[in-house]
Amino acid sequence: MSQTSSTGPTPAVGTFTASMGDVLVSARGLQKSFGGRQILKNVDFDMSLGDITVIIGKSGSGKSTLLRALAGLTDPDAGYIYFDGKTVFDDEERTDDWYDVEAHVGMVFQTYTLWPHMDVLANLTLAPLKRLGYSKAEAKERAEQALEEVGMAHHLRSRPTQLSGGERQRVAIARALMMRPKLLLCDEITSALDPPVAAEVLEVLRRLKQEEGIAVALVTHDMAFASKAADRVVFFHDGEIAVNATPDEAFNHNDNPDLAKFLEAVRF
Ligand SMILES: Nc1ncnc2c1ncn2[C@@H]1O[C@H](COP(=O)(O)OP(=O)(O)OP(=O)(O)O)[C@@H](O)[C@H]1O
Ligand SMILES: [Mg+2]
Repeated sequence: MSQTSSTGPTPAVGTFTASMGDVLVSARGLQKSFGGRQILKNVDFDMSLGDITVIIGKSGSGKSTLLRALAGLTDPDAGYIYFDGKTVFDDEERTDDWYDVEAHVGMVFQTYTLWPHMDVLANLTLAPLKRLGYSKAEAKERAEQALEEVGMAHHLRSRPTQLSGGERQRVAIARALMMRPKLLLCDEITSALDPPVAAEVLEVLRRLKQEEGIAVALVTHDMAFASKAADRVVFFHDGEIAVNATPDEAFNHNDNPDLAKFLEAVRF
């Protein structure tokens, strides 16, 4: 039986002070262009520990670019990112604090990025063994815990090819949890799944935010989940965050014409 996530090995990363309900990550004035086209024009927003923030918006509007900037996969051209009270991106460059907090950020993608020739245990422990100096026993213990957290404890020795799409995506979440992230970024992680399977995966996220108190940012086209499970709904339009509201405000009481048009288009 796995232990709870409050025990067992913890990666040696920088100190962390925010607690449930506190703002974990803030972006101010983020800008990013590709080939002369400005994708992020002026992005400002905050995410708090214990919240699921659902990010919606048209295809090509820059949702993935925003998540990638927060995950450190792409650098903004300008703007500021604050994490747990520290400035980690300072207008043009990463600060030294960036390297302290990057282990607190996990990301899961739409397509399964698991290695097919390795079993689940090896997929989960590859990076922690290499980068965090875990012993093999510690890495296995943490993998067991992470799999338990997503309801996949019995699949430690399975290969990705032996798993269904929903199971693979839960393993991908477990892999992102190996480092005990405070911020989990999920980019359309249920788009390739049938609705009931997608609902199960999203339920995992809901449990995680409640039990682990992490902040989750989720790009999705699943408006049912957004309206039921989100704490905040962020509508991304024309390089800016046009609406940042509760689901009830965003879906039932918003007076933003671009959001109204978007919701009309995705409803049917
Ligand atoms: N590395 C890159 N090089 C050049 N252009 C890019 C790059 N990454 C993104 N873009 C462009 O930036 C725009 C925004 O892309 P992004 O992937 O952020 O959109 P999105 O809102 O996630 O769309 P979707 O809903 O289709 O996933 C697109 O026009 C895309 O082609
Ligand atoms: Mg995208």
